[in-house]
Amino acid sequence: MNILELKKVCKIYEGTVSYQALDDMDFTVKSGEFIGVMGPSGSGKSTLLNVISTNDFPTSGQVFLLNQDLHRLSEDSLAQFRRSNLGFVFQDFNLMDSLTIRENILLPLALEGTRFSTMNQALQKIAMQLGLTEILERFPYEISGGQAQRVAIARAIIHRPSLLLADEPTGNLDSRASHDVLNVLEQMNQDFGVTILMVTHDPIVASHCHRVIFIKDGRIYNEMYRGANQQAFYQEILNVLSLLGGARYDF
Ligand SMILES: Nc1ncnc2c1ncn2[C@@H]1O[C@H](COP(=O)(O)OP(=O)(O)O)[C@@H](O)[C@H]1O
Ligand SMILES: [Mg+2]
Repeated sequence: MNILELKKVCKIYEGTVSYQALDDMDFTVKSGEFIGVMGPSGSGKSTLLNVISTNDFPTSGQVFLLNQDLHRLSEDSLAQFRRSNLGFVFQDFNLMDSLTIRENILLPLALEGTRFSTMNQALQKIAMQLGLTEILERFPYEISGGQAQRVAIARAIIHRPSLLLADEPTGNLDSRASHDVLNVLEQMNQDFGVTILMVTHDPIVASHCHRVIFIKDGRIYNEMYRGANQQAFYQEILNVLSLLGGARYDF
């Protein structure tokens, strides 16, 4: 089943000089997929995620999530639809400094008015799976970057969204913490069937995805599926990245 479908999506930023950040993007994501999005800096990756998350609107074209034409929903139904179907994770974690880890994770459920016992059950479960049980009473400044990103992931998926959007979730982490975060994402994908669309610069991280989409100048440049051999997939990713132009590539 297709969970997400983009049809001829264009995004032009108007200004003194207008800039076309997305140019006729067409692609579909099937339920349960774990997809990596790669491309040089400025190629339109964040714009793509923003248009899918409805944080921004396309200049033309359509975005269907679960067969709903997102940008044609009324403001109220869109807010509700987003809250129940989408989760977001960003490079800089975006945790609330004045709230404990427990409160941060529960925020989306609390905003929906979920019953306390239901929230608590969901929290215990997710905290255990993501290895956060010991740090629930701490504040964001009392935990490591890797832990902070796992908290952000817990917050993003505690309401069981259909699609998790992650914009360079390992971009601010060292390789060990990246690895932990990647493990958690893989586990969420495999064990809970969370569909994930993740922007990453890291070819190792990307080699864990089922499919990698390469973007250049707002267009799909290439797309590759991983076979059984992750090492071979990693090598293929490196090859495409070098063709894409290493000079503009910001690691
Ligand atoms: N709000 C904006 N206004 C004008 N131009 C923008 C805006 N956001 C992004 N851009 C431009 O659109 C292009 C794509 O940006 P972005 O999607 O952030 O790229 P990426 O995430 O791949 O690095 C860049 O050239 C960027 O400067
Ligand atoms: Mg970006």
